[in-house]
Amino acid sequence: MQRSKISVIGAGNVGSSLAQFLAIRELGDVYLFDIIEGIPEGKALDIMEGTPHWGADSKVVGFNTANEENYRHLEGSNVIIVTAGLARKPGMSRDDLLGKNVEVISGVARNIKKYAPEAIVVVVTNPADIMAYALYKVSGIKPEKILGLGGSLDSARFRTFLSMELGVSVEDISAFVIGGHGDDMVPFIRYSSAGGIPISNLISKERIAEIVKRTRMGGGEIVNYLKTGSAYYAPGISITAMVESILRDRKRIIPSAAFLTGEHAKHYGADGIFIGLPVRIGANGVEHVYDIDFSEEELSLWKKTIESVTSSCKKVDEFLSR
Ligand code: LAC
Repeated sequence: MQRSKISVIGAGNVGSSLAQFLAIRELGDVYLFDIIEGIPEGKALDIMEGTPHWGADSKVVGFNTANEENYRHLEGSNVIIVTAGLARKPGMSRDDLLGKNVEVISGVARNIKKYAPEAIVVVVTNPADIMAYALYKVSGIKPEKILGLGGSLDSARFRTFLSMELGVSVEDISAFVIGGHGDDMVPFIRYSSAGGIPISNLISKERIAEIVKRTRMGGGEIVNYLKTGSAYYAPGISITAMVESILRDRKRIIPSAAFLTGEHAKHYGADGIFIGLPVRIGANGVEHVYDIDFSEEELSLWKKTIESVTSSCKKVDEFLSR
């Protein structure tokens, strides 16, 4: 069987942690790209030199995209993960990154279109829902082949906090965060459970509210600790779960930023944007979008996140039409 080819664009903290996790799980050969000369080559070689201890036969190689020609190595990629761009510093919102990162994503999108238009693309660069939209606009790739990181990470954080609260295994906690990957993401209490028991039966309303708040601010909590950047271990692991579901066609339900269109657009009240939705992920990318019902309170939170993502997508349109 031919090994899968996984390309990671951006060899910063997220890209290089991700490359390690992909290699240790032997999901395929990993091609690491970065614009800073020496970084992708060096980090890739460094990871590869550890693989004998894992018994992992993943090849890990790096390419410097300061020479744009090197993007030709994207050719034949089954999955491409885009992490390139600026990360948050303390006091910055994910939206502050928008303008700068649209520029970066546009360059990447043009090269994906040129060399690997059939790949499934996972967008991680923040604000991820909006960057997924920008990549879609510029690359013209089928929208079901594009996913953005959000719920995979936010739900993992929510599960972690719930397991800490209850003193039970993380494995038994099922949690569900949808909406934009921003501070107005929507952690859904009604759809979250421990061992199948709804969490509202196990934890007080007040404590749940605190855990929800911590989940929403989860990215910021790490930024405040690190000071010079944002999270990368949990993001790397959360992306790996998405990539694994694609390459092994596991058909996992992992909330991710996906394109809203047709019946789903009517159900969710927005059309033509990417936003965190409960989706089934398989070999074809986003294979199914689940329409869930909202309580009145949930609906008002949902409307807020839809509004904020829609208005940012408009900013992208303006930016791209310049
Ligand atoms: C976070 C960044 C990756 O949530 O958005 O940590």
